[in-house]
Amino acid sequence: MKFFIDTANLSDIKEAYSLGILDGVTTNPSLMAKEGIAGYDAVMKHYLTICEIVDGPVSAEVIATDFEGMVREGEALAALHSNIVVKIPMILEGIKAIKYFSKKGIRTNCTLIFSAGQALLAAKAGATYISPFLGRLDDVSTSGTGLIQQIRLIFDNYGFETEILAASVRHPMHIIECAEIGADVMTGPLSAIKALANHPLTDIGLQQFLADHAKVNG
Ligand code: G3P
Repeated sequence: MKFFIDTANLSDIKEAYSLGILDGVTTNPSLMAKEGIAGYDAVMKHYLTICEIVDGPVSAEVIATDFEGMVREGEALAALHSNIVVKIPMILEGIKAIKYFSKKGIRTNCTLIFSAGQALLAAKAGATYISPFLGRLDDVSTSGTGLIQQIRLIFDNYGFETEILAASVRHPMHIIECAEIGADVMTGPLSAIKALANHPLTDIGLQQFLADHAKVNG
């Protein structure tokens, strides 16, 4: 399973990349706003900086909600750097834009997926990735992992090459569950990625090893 980090924070991106396990980055307008990145030039510069840090796909989201606007914004984003994947919202105009970009060989990530029907539509249009929002479904007492399992079955039935990018991942158990059910990619915060390394028995064991070594070596 590929690991993407879901943030526009450069320090978190650098830290995750330095671990050697990071395959890509996803952003969205809320994450960009959280970092205070405002205005066209600043947004484009920020995406470029991320692309120069991480050697892998970087999802950059369009703001337009009409086909022509999405095409205009998406083409500008794709021209910025070869790492850019154009992130398109799951609306009918977005489906048209995904088909357009697919024909042009520009990679897309269809975001805000909350049902298997939406995933199927985006895959048929040729999306490179579809992003089911695991955590947000869990927030409304609906199984996010259940949706990913359903999409996995459908994509496998028909050999869709569209990758399932589990998004809105909140904690390490989400990551483990995504791996168990065969998500192709997960994107989550640095905290969830780092938490995978934690186990109290590892800490106790390491302390013991170091103490035993010190006893005889001083
Ligand atoms: O990748 C989508 C993600 O940014 C949404 O996460 O935690 O806001 O539901 P969250």
